[in-house]
Amino acid sequence: MPERFYVTTPIFYPNDRPHLGTAYATVTADALARWHRLCGEEVLFLTGTDEHGLKIARRAEEQGMTPQAWTDETAQWFRDAWKALLVTNDDFIRTTEARHTEAVQAFMQSIHDNGHIYKAEYAGWYCVACEAYYAESELTEGRLCPLHGTPVEWFVEENYFFRLSAFEDRLLEWYANSGSVVVPEAKRNEAVSFIRQGLQDISITRTSIDWGIPVPWDPEHVVYVWYDALVNYITAIGYGVDEERFSSWWPFVHHLIGKDILRFHCVWWPAMCMAAGIDPPHQLIVHGFLLVGGEKMSKSRLNQVDPVELAKDLGVDALRYHLLREVTLGSDGDFSYEALVARYNSDLANNLGNLAQRVATVVGSKCGGVGPAPRPAGEENAIATAAATVVAEAREAWARFAPQDALAATWRLVHETNAELEATEPWKMAPGPEVDSVLGNALEALRIVTILASPAVPLAAAEIWRRLGLDGTPDEAGRASESRGELDWGGYPGGLTVTKGEPIFPRRHAPVPTATSDDAP
Ligand code: MSP
Repeated sequence: MPERFYVTTPIFYPNDRPHLGTAYATVTADALARWHRLCGEEVLFLTGTDEHGLKIARRAEEQGMTPQAWTDETAQWFRDAWKALLVTNDDFIRTTEARHTEAVQAFMQSIHDNGHIYKAEYAGWYCVACEAYYAESELTEGRLCPLHGTPVEWFVEENYFFRLSAFEDRLLEWYANSGSVVVPEAKRNEAVSFIRQGLQDISITRTSIDWGIPVPWDPEHVVYVWYDALVNYITAIGYGVDEERFSSWWPFVHHLIGKDILRFHCVWWPAMCMAAGIDPPHQLIVHGFLLVGGEKMSKSRLNQVDPVELAKDLGVDALRYHLLREVTLGSDGDFSYEALVARYNSDLANNLGNLAQRVATVVGSKCGGVGPAPRPAGEENAIATAAATVVAEAREAWARFAPQDALAATWRLVHETNAELEATEPWKMAPGPEVDSVLGNALEALRIVTILASPAVPLAAAEIWRRLGLDGTPDEAGRASESRGELDWGGYPGGLTVTKGEPIFPRRHAPVPTATSDDAP
């Protein structure tokens, strides 16, 4: 049976259009899903929208719409954006779907039946943007939310509570026994120290709103939006409905999450799973924020960048490559259009694009347009040796969720192949075995690069593959599996017709700073 890889993004609040920060999270999950499919694994890649709760209900009201009509419209923004960015999710879940109501109710009921839910009155400071209560001590001066800087509201409710405090020891034991369950390590430590400080029970139902999933044993209450949202990860694999499917995917999930939702995923969610009698998730991968001018993108700061517009401008591949290559998973990254264009020109236009273009041109002029076979691997063949190292490094980097390292390694092979062409200058040689040997090597390096780069730049990879005269597509499932050996040196057969075409990544001029009113005459 093939190995299985289940990867999820958080489900997004469909109140705003997707911005570059949410695109970063989704493209990263997509690249991981693509890599694992390439390795021949059975992949399930889930994303979706988080549609209940006060935040959505209020926004819908502002628009003069019901929350259902509002989210029917706005969930589509996400589907469309992900399609435009070539995101290959296998499923898109909306928390307003019947399958989710069923799963949440079954999950809640089993936690209730297991004795981990009780009723009590709750009063506290609530931030609607976070959909979370804060202790007075966590607020900033003027009683503002520490994340949003907006006023919190005093809520008093009779609620059902989840006995989170009872799970402290089990959570700590789980962390002690499950190594890299949260990566990077610093984020794991953050979760553990949060648990060590002592956990409070959490209020998990609301009576103040009705936009939510009714509590199965007391339908006057609706389930608190976070408690509802987290369950999406198991709804999609048939929790409570299809035991066989559920147990074939759970708990082997990789949740990709932003650092702001660590507490919900690394403390609440595993405890909720334990309470319901299922295993906690296998792994949580925590990424940082994509910042603009040092600040998190948000509607209120008017610094949102529309990823679909950017992709229209520079190409989907260019945007995807930049997101995956520029930011180290786990750290924050700063986005600027200048850096995007600079990275595009250096890595895509001058390196990969140029290599593909010059190889096709010289094969045209010196080899009659027919690609020669590469030299065999061995001590004499530095490019073959470099390729073997690069493939091993890229595999290792993808396996530890480090697309930036996988791509850096891949581009080293591009760079070395270009360097060999510059050193040997086949365009100056007379046609013959020496030219063939240099170009055969370059074609083979390009074949390998194209497979390795396909999770990041699927369109360019497919086009280069076609120009090399190869059949199928570079991202065919299983092409990078070790058993198929297609990433081993020597796969380019020679004798194929190599085609030239327009530059795949035409060079872009650096952006000209726009005039501000200060510059006006
Ligand atoms: N709906 C909840 C998640 C529920 S998951 C069971 C939520 N939604 S969100 O739309 O506010 O954020 C979703 C994800 O987007 C979070 O992981 C968050 O970190 C991420 N990002 C939002 N802005 C971001 C950046 N500027 N940069 C990177 N990721 C960002 O929270």
